[in-house]
Amino acid sequence: MNENVRNPKMLRINSKPLAEAFVEEQIEKIKEQVKDGRVLLGLSGGVDSSVCAALLAKAISDKLVCVHVNHGLLRKNESEEVLGFFKNDLKDNLIYVDASNEFLDALKGVTDPEKKRKIIGELFIKVFKREAQKLEGISFLAQGTIYSDVLESQGVKAHHNVGGLPSELGFELVEPIKFLYKDEVRQVGEALGLPHKMVHRQPFPGPGLSVRCIGAITKDRLEAVRESDAILREEFALAGLDKKVWQYFTVVPPIKSTGIKKGKRTFEWPVIIRAVNSVDAVTATIEKIPYEILEKIRDRILAEVKGVNRVLYDLSNKPGATIEWE
Ligand code: XMP
Repeated sequence: MNENVRNPKMLRINSKPLAEAFVEEQIEKIKEQVKDGRVLLGLSGGVDSSVCAALLAKAISDKLVCVHVNHGLLRKNESEEVLGFFKNDLKDNLIYVDASNEFLDALKGVTDPEKKRKIIGELFIKVFKREAQKLEGISFLAQGTIYSDVLESQGVKAHHNVGGLPSELGFELVEPIKFLYKDEVRQVGEALGLPHKMVHRQPFPGPGLSVRCIGAITKDRLEAVRESDAILREEFALAGLDKKVWQYFTVVPPIKSTGIKKGKRTFEWPVIIRAVNSVDAVTATIEKIPYEILEKIRDRILAEVKGVNRVLYDLSNKPGATIEWE
């Protein structure tokens, strides 16, 4: 059987007992695989890597070392939040690496989405290698790969967190949630006792805001993505939409249009708002946001985000479009 195909006999996790049984089973499997070895995990702070970290911490406690890499493409205040959340449990086994300049330099002038992913993926390997070499006795690399990553990496987009890594790093892979759909990952997170806020965080792509800063990334346009995203998230939380909408973010394409501000002509970027509902990311439909909320977000983005003179709403479903723009 193809090792990247979910076993048809595997039960779909749709209840607490099934999630708990999965946790117990994986703990045993991880212990069996890892034995006395140390495991390195890239902790982005998203649902997948957080669930993976919690599962491994439970199975092998202080043999787990987590590295949080700030690739300069994270959301506003994201690193602070991730480090703050895990520091009590992981203590000295939580390592912070600020590699943002390295990533932004490597991405300079690169427009092709798959090339951008490749660069980010390869740099991740480099940064991990560097960190791993500083640590003693690491022989495993854990990854929060989930089933949609596995499927998508065989198809439309080359997700950086699948494939290629193990042979280059020389580490054996530990992928305890590889065959889970997103909704199952969340249930496993709950069974592990992770807080609701963390388990129900919206998915965030490994290449981060790079896939939302369309084309060649520039610092100022990336800042427009980051600031508009922060406003969107703040307003969605205020309106209670954060609990209802599966994934929501902003995109800033490298096109400019004419506008007028304080009687003066402007030539600036648009911000595109995207808000979709999905169960497993394979299909998605747009959320019908009330106009009053959209107007409030529009006003804030136009007033607070530099270099922007229009706000648009993306009406496309998946399939047709994909969720991300790149
Ligand atoms: P698409 O855009 O393919 O996205 O409809 C499906 C889901 O996957 C996320 N996504 C990624 N996640 N690395 C990731 O880890 C990636 O390169 C990547 N591209 C998209 C996307 O945010 C959505 O939840």
